[in-house]
Amino acid sequence: MNQSLNLMAPEVRANPYPFYEELRRGPVCQVEPGGMWAISRYDDVVAVLKDPRRFSSEGLGRSFRPPWLERNPTADSLVMKDPPEHTRLRTLVGKAFGGPALSRLEPRIRAIAEELAEAAVRRQDVDFVADFALPLPTRVLNLFFGLEPSMASRLKRWADDLVSIPASQPSPERIAEVRQSLAEMEHCFEALIEARRAEPSDDLVSELLRSEALTHEELLSFLFGMVPAGMETTVYLLANTMVVLADHPHELERVRAEPALIPRLVEEVLRYEPPGQSSLRLATEDVELSGVTIPRGALVVVLMGAAMRDERRFPQADRFLLEREGQSHLSFGHGPHFCLGAMLARLEARLGLEALFSRIRGFSLSRSELSWSRSIIARGPLSLSLHLEPTHQQSADATRQPGPHP
Ligand code: HEM
Repeated sequence: MNQSLNLMAPEVRANPYPFYEELRRGPVCQVEPGGMWAISRYDDVVAVLKDPRRFSSEGLGRSFRPPWLERNPTADSLVMKDPPEHTRLRTLVGKAFGGPALSRLEPRIRAIAEELAEAAVRRQDVDFVADFALPLPTRVLNLFFGLEPSMASRLKRWADDLVSIPASQPSPERIAEVRQSLAEMEHCFEALIEARRAEPSDDLVSELLRSEALTHEELLSFLFGMVPAGMETTVYLLANTMVVLADHPHELERVRAEPALIPRLVEEVLRYEPPGQSSLRLATEDVELSGVTIPRGALVVVLMGAAMRDERRFPQADRFLLEREGQSHLSFGHGPHFCLGAMLARLEARLGLEALFSRIRGFSLSRSELSWSRSIIARGPLSLSLHLEPTHQQSADATRQPGPHP
């Protein structure tokens, strides 16, 4: 293994794209950490993602149930299953993510987006992550679950604690914190299931109970799995959009003048600066890919972020082009595990950006403080200092009504 190929090197986390270019020349090779096999070309990435028989998700749950944790329903969630079990579960839960469910949520998501945008623009100097990109998906996921509004503040801690589990050797204090979060989650979801069983509503859990086809444990694992799946990536989609627009101010002018372009903007951000950079798989047998044999049992890192900069598939791949069309990106994955929340994430991003762009003329970003997530799976800034410039209308409104930060 070439020791210099390290996905976790600080310069790679700050900008992975030159590193990905080097990998695509490989094209299949082992990288640090841990000697994972990296897949980086578009065709290879698609081949792996659509082949769950040879590239399995099933064993991945083990890292979420380390010896220091007796119980963690996340380890059995949908994304860690293979067909036919995966197919059965996915068919049962899929309906809850469909158009009718989202249409019901849309006005409420819009109201949350407008409220957050209004507050951020009134404030002008914001941490875009803490003040907008994080609260929007957190409150939407809370709504989607049908939890009390006060529970939204806990979802972020739960998600952070869940994704931290696979990292080895936590301190005794950290173990206690993670156990505490898991116990809280279980208590909260048990209470929610009980309440919806007694009095069904029009939300996710009621919908899943109505079908009567999931066992109690399957339902619990599904809800646990949704917490990390539904938040971090959506936070980073919103934040990455602002990072990209800071370098492409002309595109901001275009989408402000023509808000119907916002969905296109979102799709190109998903390709160019994807919040979900990779997925993991385990090789179930020796598999040859691009002339290289990946051994049975190997951990494979499937780099969608690298595949979406592959010139063989995306001409001028390193350029951000709003007019790109018909070159399906892989940000939501591909094949049997294609993201169930893709429609919801797109809806949140569109409504969030519509609410924001209708209130600002432009913004400036303080790049010196930009620090990126330290994960090979999810990529986005941990915080984002923005100065928002309100539209003239918004400035006039602000002088009439005092805000929380005068
Ligand atoms: C921009 C936001 C999002 C991105 C980039 C994203 C990305 C992904 C990707 C790449 C996968 C496939 C993982 C794999 O193949 O191993 C996935 C699966 C999944 N996502 Fe998302 N996701 C986003 C938002 C959401 C939201 C908002 C929800 C729900 C509230 C959600 C729920 C799920 C679920 C349940 C799965 C598992 C599907 C399965 O295994 O069949 N995601 N997501």
